[in-house]
Amino acid sequence: MHVNLELVAREAKKTVGSGDVIIVIDVLRCTSSIITALANGARSILPVRTLREARQLHQEHPSYILAGERGGLKPIGFTLGNSPLGFKREIVSEKNIIVTTTSGTAAISRVIKGRHVLLGALLNAKFVAEEAYTIGKREGLGISLALSGKKGSFSLEDFLGAGAIIESLPARRIECSDAAYASFLVFTAAKGSLTMIIQQGNHARNLKNLGLEKDVVFCSQLNQYNVIPRLENGRIVKKIADVRVY
Ligand code: MLT
Repeated sequence: MHVNLELVAREAKKTVGSGDVIIVIDVLRCTSSIITALANGARSILPVRTLREARQLHQEHPSYILAGERGGLKPIGFTLGNSPLGFKREIVSEKNIIVTTTSGTAAISRVIKGRHVLLGALLNAKFVAEEAYTIGKREGLGISLALSGKKGSFSLEDFLGAGAIIESLPARRIECSDAAYASFLVFTAAKGSLTMIIQQGNHARNLKNLGLEKDVVFCSQLNQYNVIPRLENGRIVKKIADVRVY
């Protein structure tokens, strides 16, 4: 099975054309927050690109929770920001949540037409890997990982997230592109000190300056949730991982 990695968000759309199973990754913090929200019982997530769309959708569905960030901070009038630690069970259980973030939901919008779109992060790396492999094997497809990065540029933590996912794929049954293989090699080298290494990255330093360092530590954890977010008709819903099949 072919495994491809798009390093910057503007290339993410290519993954739709490839027909591959797509995994969108935004470790800090969008996909980590969505995974946490679903793990804590959220019914669905509606990812939207702009604040205006988010507010309009909220007017149409006032019972939905409005969440997201601009510049890392909660926009005016929103109930939640983009901190995974804010998506607590008592707030999100059984709720639908409208989410807009600077880069993460923009990357998701780029692949919204994909047939199989999953969301990944360190928090669910091995579970999303198993699901993507199972779908790919069943339908004769490859896997494309799309990094959301920060405002379209490369980001270290997303690269590590891709490497963590690739490490959980069956090595003898996949053929990686050079970028995919490089992410696996870097992840393997970084695995023992993930939090410390992610803290050195640009985005983690920005979050620290905003007083959000706890989010960085939380999002640096590996395989905490067996939750696989999946796009279905523009909404993100969850699948709980099955028992390993390969
Ligand atoms: C984004 O989608 O741009 C990020 O999740 C930013 C953030 O850390 O809030």
